Amino acid sequence: MSISNTANNVCAIAFDNFTLTLLDQRALPQQEIYIDYTDAHTVALAITDMVVRGAPAIGITAAYGIVLAAYSQRDQPTLDLSPVFEQLSNSRPTAVNLFWALEKMKQTLNDCEHVSTSQKIEALLAQAQNIHQQDIVNNQIMGKLGASLIEHDSEVYTHCNAGALATGGFGTALGVIRCAVSEGKVNQVYAGETRPWLQGARLTAWELMRDNIPVCLSSEGAAGQLLRKGNIKWIIVGADRIAANGDVANKIGTYNLAVLAKHHNVKFMVVAPCSTFDLNIHNGHDIPIEDRAASELTHLQGAQIAPENCAAINPSFDVTPNELIDAIICEKGILRPPFSQNILNTIPH
Ligand code: MRU
Repeated sequence: MSISNTANNVCAIAFDNFTLTLLDQRALPQQEIYIDYTDAHTVALAITDMVVRGAPAIGITAAYGIVLAAYSQRDQPTLDLSPVFEQLSNSRPTAVNLFWALEKMKQTLNDCEHVSTSQKIEALLAQAQNIHQQDIVNNQIMGKLGASLIEHDSEVYTHCNAGALATGGFGTALGVIRCAVSEGKVNQVYAGETRPWLQGARLTAWELMRDNIPVCLSSEGAAGQLLRKGNIKWIIVGADRIAANGDVANKIGTYNLAVLAKHHNVKFMVVAPCSTFDLNIHNGHDIPIEDRAASELTHLQGAQIAPENCAAINPSFDVTPNELIDAIICEKGILRPPFSQNILNTIPH
C-alpha cells in the first residue's frame, strides 16, 4: 500500500484495511522499504528487531498489533488476546509508551465486554487510531512550547532520533527543532551519530534533510569540543521513560551529553508526551534498561570490527539525573525544577 505524508515528509506507521505498514528503519537512508503486517506476532518481532523504534512509535505499533490480533479472531464469538498482549509487552523493555498503549487497549477491551466481536474490533481500532492521532497533535503542541524557550540565532544539538520516525509524526525533540527552525530561531542543528544503531546518522540526518533543515552530523566524541565553542545553546532530546522525580531514560549517550552541557553552560531540554512518564517509578535507578546483543558493537553492518570473541557491553539506554535537566516539555506545558512537585501537579495519574 502507499503511505501518506503527515505534517512533514516522513511517515513511519500507517494502518489501512487491517494492514499495518511500517517503514523499515533498519534500511534507511539507503533504501525506503515499507513492510506490510497482518499478524501481531510479526509486529512484536518488528519492534524487537528495530524495524520500528522510538518510544511513541513503539506504543502506536503495539496498539495496531492488538487490532490485528483481534481482527484475526473476527469469526470467533469471544476474543482471546492475552498471549498477544504478553508477546507485545515483551518486545522491548524500556520505553514505557509501549506499556501505556497496551494498557489503553486493555481498558478499551474491558469497557466493551458485552458487545459483539466485530464491535470490539471497531472499538480497538478506534482506540489505536486515537493513540496515533493524539500523538501527532501532542508533538505539535510540544513543538511550539519547546521552541518558545529557544533564543534567535541559536545552534542546537540532538541525539538519536526523536523525530517523525520515532513517533506518530512530527517528532518530540525534532518537533521542537522543526518549530524553532520555522520561527527562524535555529540556524544549525547538530545530530550526534548515536552508536551503535546510528539513529542520528541514518535517521535524524535523513529526516531533517528531507525537510531542508540545516543538519550537520557529528561523531559522539566531538560533542565536548562542539559545546566548548559556545554556539550551541540547547541540547534537545526525547525520552523513553521519565521517573516521578524527573530522571530521564533515553538513548545511551544522553547522560554523557547532559554532563557535558552542564560543564559548558549549555541548556538541556527533554521533550516527551505524558505517556512517557512513569509515576510508579520514583527515580531513574528503577527504570529497566534494555541490554542488546554484543554483536551490535563487535560488528558493523554484518562485518566484524572487534577481535573474535571480544567481550562487549551494550546497554541501549542510560539515565540522566533530573539535576542536569533545565526543562521537560510535555503537551501539558513546560516543566521546570523542582521536577518532583511539578510532575505530580501536571502529569495525569
Ligand atoms: O532504540 P531506539 O531507537 O528505540 O531509541 C529511541 C530513543 O532513545 C529516543 O530518543 C526516544 O525513544 C524518544 S523518541 C520520540
